[in-house]
Amino acid sequence: MAEYTIIMVRHGESKWNMENKFCGWFNADLSDKGREEAKAAGKALKDGGYTFDLAYTSVLTRANDTLDAILGTLEQTNIPIKKTWRLNERHYGGLTGLNKAETAKKFGDEQVLTWRRSFGVPPPEMETDHPYYDVINKDERYKDVDPADMPKCESLELTIKRALPYWNDEIVPALKSGKKIIIAAHGNSLRGIVKHLDDLSDKRIMELNLPTGIPFYYKLDENMKPIVSMQFLGDPETVKKAMAAVAAQGTSK
Ligand code: 3PG
Repeated sequence: MAEYTIIMVRHGESKWNMENKFCGWFNADLSDKGREEAKAAGKALKDGGYTFDLAYTSVLTRANDTLDAILGTLEQTNIPIKKTWRLNERHYGGLTGLNKAETAKKFGDEQVLTWRRSFGVPPPEMETDHPYYDVINKDERYKDVDPADMPKCESLELTIKRALPYWNDEIVPALKSGKKIIIAAHGNSLRGIVKHLDDLSDKRIMELNLPTGIPFYYKLDENMKPIVSMQFLGDPETVKKAMAAVAAQGTSK
């Protein structure tokens, strides 16, 4: 029976993660800690004996730089890298730039949890007078993107809707052709892929928080169904604490 292994990793901590701000499509850089996390991810993959033929990432610097650090550590900077907006973080709309804890104080922890982790509820739209509207929508990265595809906000459902065609039409055929693949992306674009692979319920996906900079793998069968689901290359206690820290970012305490 065919078996395909794919590695995925959320970017290292970004400067806006560090400042606990909703980031989404804002192009925040990695923090110093995030750069260290990216190097550690590369080391974990090297220690695990992983090598790659092909890499996928978003068009956002925090994911690109995480991938570059990993491939540098693996001495594999020569492999093809495919970048797509379809692997971007979910667009946080009008919340972009707001502090998550302050937003929870203002609107309540439950409302922020719903905006961050629910399947079908989008955050408020980013209006054209939003402080970050122009810097995102006039970014050269999106010059070839159909304006109809440019989001003003995204629920996880909408994020999956634009990521899944790329997964099905680009990544799966490459995987099935025998390519050893790594995806360096974002907490919610990866949550969307995980939800799809494991067929997680809308309730169960609410509970999933992905840590920054810790790679995980899936082993998939011929039908891209998991033989092994989301296994992190890190000690379970560290992973558990990191997930809890991500969850806590959105509370008012
Ligand atoms: C962001 O875009 O703010 C983070 O990278 C992901 O945020 P979340 O964990 O609040 O979804």
